[in-house]
Amino acid sequence: MIKIEELNHFKTDEQKKYHQKLRGLNLAEGYSYDEGELKPRPYWPTEPVNNVEPCLWQWSDLHDVICESGRLVGVGHGGLKYDRRVIALTNPGLEDQYAITSSFFADFQLIQPGESTPSHRHTPCASRFIFEGSGWTIVGDERVDFQPKDIVFTGQNPWHNHGNSGKDDLLFLDILDIPLMQYLGISKWEFDYWSITGSKEDHHTPHQANNFPNELYTKSHLRPRFGSWKRNSTNFAHLRWEEARQTLMAMEQEKGSLYDGILLEFTNTETGGSIGPTMSIFTQMLRPGEKTLSHRHTSQTIYIGVEGSGKIFIGDKEYDWKPNDVFVVPSWVWHHHENHSSKSPAFMHSISDATLTAKLNMYREQQKDIEGQIVDSFWQSEYLRNF
Ligand SMILES: [Fe+2]
Ligand SMILES: [Fe+2]
Repeated sequence: MIKIEELNHFKTDEQKKYHQKLRGLNLAEGYSYDEGELKPRPYWPTEPVNNVEPCLWQWSDLHDVICESGRLVGVGHGGLKYDRRVIALTNPGLEDQYAITSSFFADFQLIQPGESTPSHRHTPCASRFIFEGSGWTIVGDERVDFQPKDIVFTGQNPWHNHGNSGKDDLLFLDILDIPLMQYLGISKWEFDYWSITGSKEDHHTPHQANNFPNELYTKSHLRPRFGSWKRNSTNFAHLRWEEARQTLMAMEQEKGSLYDGILLEFTNTETGGSIGPTMSIFTQMLRPGEKTLSHRHTSQTIYIGVEGSGKIFIGDKEYDWKPNDVFVVPSWVWHHHENHSSKSPAFMHSISDATLTAKLNMYREQQKDIEGQIVDSFWQSEYLRNF
């Protein structure tokens, strides 16, 4: 966002007076001088940039802090109870914004044993990565039970709620496209389930058998073609880690990507395209000893360590990651991955806005060879065609 006062380089009294005159008319000068020299301006960059910074949140620092919120805040309505018990991840480059990247908001959510959240709905879509504990989520008419390392996707605006079905704390990471929706003025949230729907409860219940979407789509790929039966597959999807891991391992001998190893996208089962209109979700394996080459692209990525450990180099920074660590790769910054284990694969999930920039015809990627020379540079790579 261009801030008018940051751009105001008027120096003479007459210029400053003119600036005030413009501001009084809700106008502003749209040019700047720097000691008479024309230099690249932060708001008219010669390369795509934004303020998002690389950052890593270590699970070892986080777990106890997140669980502490359970003593301070309840889930539900009234008193010290809140709709959701969440702790947001704030990108240091985005000042005090509730944003992990310029397009995504992310939070850690805690649900204690026996708790469930009220139903609510919102236009931002959401993905949830399960850190630990066991629980369920209900979206519209359907419920799935999830386990650690699974991902659940919730589309735009269905009623949904979550609950803990185990004996231990349930912790997961929510990622939503809230900053983008807010920027466009289309973020809308509804919390009063009972008053909006006439229900006596503050939550809704599913009408389909538990795990119905999984049984239907993941296993059989069969879809009813009769009567009024209809399912909106863009509303709800569940990636089970057990199955994702099996698929990744089955591709271990493939050449894979020079830049990402074995990279699989969690897709919309009906369209084959991205899981959400603004959100791409990937699961990924770096084989033992694998070091990728460096690339950069016009999409922002949030990674979650799943199994094993690895190192990521982002610009001039490097981070070691372990399971449940969360880290961010900003747009258009060179990065590559390394798995230093000679025995164990390293697994990550990632959520990016690649599908969004691709839809804007603005997905661009550059790749380096082993010597560090740029070998390819293109807009809209072939594999993004379906985004
Ligand atoms: Fe929600
Ligand atoms: Fe990348």
